Amino acid sequence: MQAVELWQSMFWLSGAGNWYTNTDMEYKNAEIAKIAKQLREKVAKLEDKRAILRAPELGALYDRIKTLPADERASFGKEVNFLKNELEKLVRQAKSSQLSALSSIDVTAPFDINVPPELRPKLLPAENGSRHPLMTELEIILDIFARMGFTTVESRELDDDYHMFGSLNFPKDHPARDEYDTFVTDEDLVAPAHTSIMQNRVFKSMGIPIRAVIPGRVFRNEDLDARHEHTFYQLEGVYVDKGIHAGHLVATVRAWLSSYYEREIKIKIQPFYFPFTEPSFEFAASCIFCEGRGCNVCSHTGWIELGGCGMIHPNVLREGSIDPNKYTGFAWGFGIDRLVMLKYNIEDVRHFHSGNLKFLRQFA
Ligand code: DAH
Repeated sequence: MQAVELWQSMFWLSGAGNWYTNTDMEYKNAEIAKIAKQLREKVAKLEDKRAILRAPELGALYDRIKTLPADERASFGKEVNFLKNELEKLVRQAKSSQLSALSSIDVTAPFDINVPPELRPKLLPAENGSRHPLMTELEIILDIFARMGFTTVESRELDDDYHMFGSLNFPKDHPARDEYDTFVTDEDLVAPAHTSIMQNRVFKSMGIPIRAVIPGRVFRNEDLDARHEHTFYQLEGVYVDKGIHAGHLVATVRAWLSSYYEREIKIKIQPFYFPFTEPSFEFAASCIFCEGRGCNVCSHTGWIELGGCGMIHPNVLREGSIDPNKYTGFAWGFGIDRLVMLKYNIEDVRHFHSGNLKFLRQFA
């Protein structure tokens, strides 16, 4: 709280008698001085301070102006205006002291932290809630990968420029950074836009062969619609060993998707650009609804885009203390929300974070 605000709130708490007396002196007209005193006392008691500006006493003073002889009118009118200004100032001060009291409100707390413990609401029994569908599905997905020999490593929700860009072969000031432009804190930490932030850590901490999947929440500067959210979950995958090539990548993705959707899935890759893979691909799966014949869900293309992937760039391996002349690897990033939407034919990604119980209870 700043000194001025502190002073203002003390003013309201104490009734601030001295301050009143000082301004009393400023009204030469005895009647106005008297009404000013009454109105100040009144405003201190009012809950809605603005009501003082509609006080009948003030209105009556204004009405009086017209009835006065011309030579008294100017000085009387001036003092009435002065009183009105004084009252407006009191209202503004009250408002700012209320605002400074707000600084002790914790918007993340499930109750008002200023309320004494015995008056706080009782927490609801846990049985009333259920797991979020994304978490249930994530567990199923991680289970499939565990059976395929992948270790799960959790991502993080705050990171630095090095892991977000530097370690992933984004040159400084390269336009490819724009795609991943999110929030930055005063300490220069970023809200991660992808789970690839974990690649360098995984390379440095796990022994080869490396097989890891990395789920995490990511943040985007996004125009929202049925297919785009500012916050969603991704699943990163990395595989590094001797002699690994793009065929391994396609086979791995096909195997796990077929397992997740419980049917034979075809995979299509097409060239793309990511700074951290070379070559880079975008990949699509055959539509699980029409099996590739074309329907509304896949916009009659027979394919649904699922994410990006590629062969890990030698610079990224080197930065992760892995010799790119000895080892190669592939990596991918899927949107988990997207995978779950497809599985249950959910039409709008925004349902997931809406907190809409009608939606959530279908998965309970
Ligand atoms: N990080 C990329 C994104 O979110 C997705 C991605 C592409 C991840 C290729 C990878 C990869 O690991 O190899 O846009």
